[in-house]
Amino acid sequence: MNQSPPTKLFTLASGKGGVGKTSLTLNLATQLAKQGQKVLVIDGDTGLANADVQLNLKPERDLAHYLSGQFALRHVLTPTPQGFTLIAGRAGHNQLANLPLPKLHQLLKDLRDLAQSYTITLIDAAAGVSPTTLAMCAEANHTLLVTTPDPSSLTDAYALIKLLWHNNATANSQLIVNQANAREAAQVHTRLTTAATTFLGLPPLPLLGNIPQCKHFSQAVRQHHLASTAFPNSPAITALQTLAKKLA
Ligand SMILES: Nc1ncnc2c1ncn2[C@@H]1O[C@H](COP(=O)(O)OP(=O)(O)OP(=O)(O)O)[C@@H](O)[C@H]1O
Ligand SMILES: [Mg+2]
Repeated sequence: MNQSPPTKLFTLASGKGGVGKTSLTLNLATQLAKQGQKVLVIDGDTGLANADVQLNLKPERDLAHYLSGQFALRHVLTPTPQGFTLIAGRAGHNQLANLPLPKLHQLLKDLRDLAQSYTITLIDAAAGVSPTTLAMCAEANHTLLVTTPDPSSLTDAYALIKLLWHNNATANSQLIVNQANAREAAQVHTRLTTAATTFLGLPPLPLLGNIPQCKHFSQAVRQHHLASTAFPNSPAITALQTLAKKLA
């Protein structure tokens, strides 16, 4: 009997903000869609959602509509020109910014059900170690921990690993080092893995890959384009293509 493989649910998380989670989520989703995957992305930055802004989209419905109880999650989807489907958030929405845990768990349950209709689902989580972000990591079957080589980003990545460990949610975590070359990424990987194995007794955290620093990223964001669309041949997008293949 043909059994469909279990859906892949990835949460992109970081301790420190501004390390590139949203850019990586959207560009990865674009590459995955190009490679034939059916991709769902949810803006999990419930307080400061901005995936729709980076995509230059004006969603008709978003998570606030879902939260109001008027619409099911499958009725707040926004198709994107990049070929994936977005569940947009809404920045500065009081209820979303202060999502009570029972509502969050209901949202994650509905997301898991909806994800069955997709081959890959990506959650773009809020930076930090809030209960919302930790729950999103625990819900996913893979956490993609994003850091840069910046020392404060590394310290915060370790803090996140530690809290995931406290919450029994470190299984299947992998590291993405953004704005780094391969050598820098290997150094970051060694430092984090050494700390996590020595102090927490964790197995080594696999390094999924590195994305080089790329001036086109911020240029694309300012022009309301995605780097994948505006600069498809840049080294960072090539690295993301490789990463997407590994995820799929
Ligand atoms: N590889 C890269 N090279 C150069 N700039 C990058 C790269 N990745 C991301 N950036 C830039 O870093 C900035 C922050 O990116 P982004 O908004 O994706 O981070 P974030 O982790 O989602 O932030 P937040 O924690 O606030 O949600 C943006 O200006 C983006 O263009
Ligand atoms: Mg973001």
